[in-house]
Amino acid sequence: MKNNNSKKIISMIITILIAFSLSGCAKGKATAEISKTAEIKENGKIVIGTSADYPPYEFHKSIDGKDTIVGFDIEIAKEVAKDLGVKLEIKDMKFDGLLAALETGNIDFVAAGMTPTEARKKNVDFSKTYYTAVQCIVIRSEDEGTIKSLKDLKSKKIGVQKGAIQEQLAKQQLSTSEIKPLGKVSDLILSLNTKKVDAVIVELPVAQAYVKQNKALALSKAELKTKEEGSAVAVKKGNEDLVDSINTTIAKLIKDKTIDKLVEDANKNAEY
Ligand code: ARG
Repeated sequence: MKNNNSKKIISMIITILIAFSLSGCAKGKATAEISKTAEIKENGKIVIGTSADYPPYEFHKSIDGKDTIVGFDIEIAKEVAKDLGVKLEIKDMKFDGLLAALETGNIDFVAAGMTPTEARKKNVDFSKTYYTAVQCIVIRSEDEGTIKSLKDLKSKKIGVQKGAIQEQLAKQQLSTSEIKPLGKVSDLILSLNTKKVDAVIVELPVAQAYVKQNKALALSKAELKTKEEGSAVAVKKGNEDLVDSINTTIAKLIKDKTIDKLVEDANKNAEY
């Protein structure tokens, strides 16, 4: 009798344990089955995170009196959304907040002229590179005669975007200068105009766009050496189906040369 009872108890415990482990399994499977692209399609929208201070990549422009974010990264993002059959929602933030926003799920992907560096690859996944540009130093036109090489920037103030590769480049190659990191490139350009900094480092097309708008600014002949360059889309690690989808869109845009047209249009759009 005693023996029978304990057998019953043991079998009950085993049943409960199995039930628990099964429900655990079922839960794990269900979450894994909802892929990122399925989630995006279900929501009917995909959210891009960007730092709209980087013409022609992404910038603010007044269109029919309405503040709009435009640029070739935005056009690429629109194609990504179109291929997934969803709407595009844009979130504009400081460049150094983008990867954290990806991590928390506040945005689905980053398109912000972001360079796929080895350091970043430890935390996020990147699409293939869709555009490449070299670095450039913007100065005031009045200093064109005096700032011609990196040596001439010794003990000058250098403006860089916080969290961008330019911050690292400046620290490595202009170690005798005073490095001033700011959140937005538009504020760096303002600081250059008001002499709070003496030079700003950005990618060449961005430098050209700002110089075109501003006669008081010029491109310096001083050149920085770079190993890592180019722009790619970043997504949260593990969202492989989303990277695949973005890569298919990018490959298509590169193959039929649409991307060149998008860059050209964005450059024209950046002139005003
Ligand atoms: N390519 C540089 C980087 O990845 C700068 C990009 C800045 N982009 C921007 N939208 N402000 O660090």
